[in-house]
Amino acid sequence: MSVPRTGQALVARPRLGELLAQAPHARLTLVSGPAGFGKTTLIAGWLDSARQQGSPVAWVSLDASDDDPERFWRYVVTALDRASPGTIPDAVELSEAATMSTERIVAALVNELATATADVWLVLDDYHTVRSPAVHVGVASLLENVSPRTHVLIITRADPDLPLARWRVRRELVEVRAADLRFTLPETESFLNGVSGLDLSADDVEALGQRTEGWVAALQLAALSLQGRDQPSTFISRFAGNDRYIVDYLVDEVLAHLDSDVREFMLSTSILDRLTGSLCDAVTGRDHGRLMLANLERANLSSSRWTTSAPGTATTTCSSTSYERACTRSVARPPRCSTSTPVAGTRTTATSKTP
Ligand SMILES: Nc1ncnc2c1ncn2[C@@H]1O[C@H](COP(=O)(O)OP(=O)(O)OP(=O)(O)O)[C@@H](O)[C@H]1O
Ligand SMILES: [Mg+2]
Repeated sequence: MSVPRTGQALVARPRLGELLAQAPHARLTLVSGPAGFGKTTLIAGWLDSARQQGSPVAWVSLDASDDDPERFWRYVVTALDRASPGTIPDAVELSEAATMSTERIVAALVNELATATADVWLVLDDYHTVRSPAVHVGVASLLENVSPRTHVLIITRADPDLPLARWRVRRELVEVRAADLRFTLPETESFLNGVSGLDLSADDVEALGQRTEGWVAALQLAALSLQGRDQPSTFISRFAGNDRYIVDYLVDEVLAHLDSDVREFMLSTSILDRLTGSLCDAVTGRDHGRLMLANLERANLSSSRWTTSAPGTATTTCSSTSYERACTRSVARPPRCSTSTPVAGTRTTATSKTP
């Protein structure tokens, strides 16, 4: 129940710090992007300075092992209490109140947080694993009613089922998204030649940056493969989304958690250069193309093949991103396990535990 420690050297990302500087003035800070885009690392590092300045940070890492609102709120209460003993005077009663309704727990939390004398940070990491509508309703209610000194950060691979549009219009939402999280060229250089200890030429750094499109997990896997190689340029020129390490990563981290219908949809539509609801329906023989594209977009599994302002209606013909290409190539491989399904709009199971 503490802020995760990376134990490794990190690339400084001050431009993201500038985005996050608005977080203390917002109702919610949402960090939403695909697996391995550096979301957790960013927030853990950024909140380190908040902690050093004396602000309590309650960190809840969720997972898909259960879908239980009672457990969710127990973890939240316990994390808040541990981060700042005394902030929740009735923490023990609340966390043991197995039969208390979500409404009552949220109301009690709102009341108790109203008396906090310092800013309090509550992080809900891997929120995409939460599927229970009751949890979403409770979180929305907490966010609507809690004192402005409580700041909630949600880290997720998929947009949560919360009234984001309403908060966005009211300017109560800070968003850090995949486009922000992608490593820029200087960050890529710093990652490869600084943190990873490689000695790549400027051309090789640029080529690898383009091939990974700033996806830090892929950069990390590429750096692993490059260790000790005599001819990095040859490796980099061949580096693509179907490298074994990348495919393994995606199979374990992403595809194992998708429902089989989502995997099948991604596989059958992978032959298309551009995606629209009707084109997808033509190749799948079903009529859910538009809905699936919208769901994939919310789940950060979409690509420029279908990214437009109107999900499911795209007609752009840009090439797909390395992340999506790699997903598509990996999708044919059976996952080693299959548990939950983080794509919004499909069947839901849920989650929650503390680190
Ligand atoms: N600024 C950074 N400097 C160096 N390495 C980084 C940085 N940001 C992320 N990484 C590395 O990239 C990998 C992925 O980062 P992280 O776990 O934060 O991604 P994530 O978006 O939270 O992924 P997931 O959705 O799986 O939780 C980690 O090994 C992390 O150490
Ligand atoms: Mg993470």
